[in-house]
Amino acid sequence: MPVPIPPPAPIDIYPQLSRDLVEEARTSAWYPAFSRLSLPSTFIDIDQLGEREAFLEWLDGDSIFLPQDSESPPVTSSSNRQRAASISSLDSAGSSSGSSSSSAPIYHLPRINEAIRAAISRYGAVFPKLNWTSPKDVAFILPQTAHGPLHCTSPADVYLLLKTSDFVPHGLEVASAFAECDEAPGQNHLKIELVLKKHVDINPAREFRCFVRSNTLIAITQRDPNYYEHLQGAQVQESICNTVRAFWEDEIWDVYAGGPDYVFDLYLSSDHASALILDFQPYRQSTDPLLFTYSELRDILEESRNGSDDRPRLPILRVIDSASHPQASRNAPAYGSSMMPMEMMELSQGRSMAEFASAWQSSIGEAMEE
Ligand SMILES: Nc1ncnc2c1ncn2[C@@H]1O[C@H](COP(=O)(O)OP(=O)(O)OP(=O)(O)O)[C@@H](O)[C@H]1O
Ligand SMILES: [Mg+2]
Repeated sequence: MPVPIPPPAPIDIYPQLSRDLVEEARTSAWYPAFSRLSLPSTFIDIDQLGEREAFLEWLDGDSIFLPQDSESPPVTSSSNRQRAASISSLDSAGSSSGSSSSSAPIYHLPRINEAIRAAISRYGAVFPKLNWTSPKDVAFILPQTAHGPLHCTSPADVYLLLKTSDFVPHGLEVASAFAECDEAPGQNHLKIELVLKKHVDINPAREFRCFVRSNTLIAITQRDPNYYEHLQGAQVQESICNTVRAFWEDEIWDVYAGGPDYVFDLYLSSDHASALILDFQPYRQSTDPLLFTYSELRDILEESRNGSDDRPRLPILRVIDSASHPQASRNAPAYGSSMMPMEMMELSQGRSMAEFASAWQSSIGEAMEE
């Protein structure tokens, strides 16, 4: 009697994850191996600079005071001038409403200031991340320039983004940084690293997120949630898949040290023929699968292994295929739920939360009386 062949073992939706694999997804961990294929980056180890305590005190502080000497002197750009003016006019508004500027906390982060300035003079402008996370939820806070979001030209720009982001703290908490890791929570010390990437003007239509499971490139998704007519043709989609597959095979799969399961982001050239690496992240629930779900990704891998003639050819590419796609968000602000109105930001600068709350309430009162 023939021995029945056991069905293949089911694949879990998420692979096993360890702290070491999460650490490998830090930009400073993968950058040395991929520097010629990614944007120039500088890493500021805040512990090594000896300003960890002061930095955390400032970041956790109940106010939006920027550290001393962080505005870039001389104040050259009109945006900086406007911001400087708005901060000083708010200072005087604050004292007239009873708050004394002498009680304002003063934060000194001279070495971090210097390191940020050095990166800015090297790159022209920087795109900041703290540990694994960029403050992309508050991109609206800096004055919009033709260069795109998170374009920082002074330490103050970097600080303002880090301080106001709801995303940045996740990269500083052991529980969320190592969420979904198998090990029992160990030591709680997490290195704090400010990553400053050279800021480049990015065309979001050329950003793609790619999923690797068990060392197999299974799927690619458009990263930006807008509909792009030019991404709809079969030929262009095939060319994207071919470029990503070749790039992954030639450059990534046997070099990346973060295990057999990971997610990486690529920026393709305008002809879709070459690529740059923007980021790596662990293959886990908190990495946004964008146009896929993680159970779909698991199913794709399972189907590709079933040996039948109609098994999918990998990788599968998904793009937003109509302006009415449920995930299309043309004209809608990204991370809208994290947004504060601009007036709120302006009122908040240089104030404690209590002062800010009272200033916000009086401004509402004034508006109601008008
Ligand atoms: N060096 C850069 N210059 C300008 N824009 C950039 C740069 N690097 C990334 N971006 C833009 O910022 C967005 C977010 O960057 P990045 O993916 O590094 O942040 P993240 O916090 O790791 O995001 P996620 O949590 O989705 O992985 C990118 O999609 C890209 O549009
Ligand atoms: Mg990322």
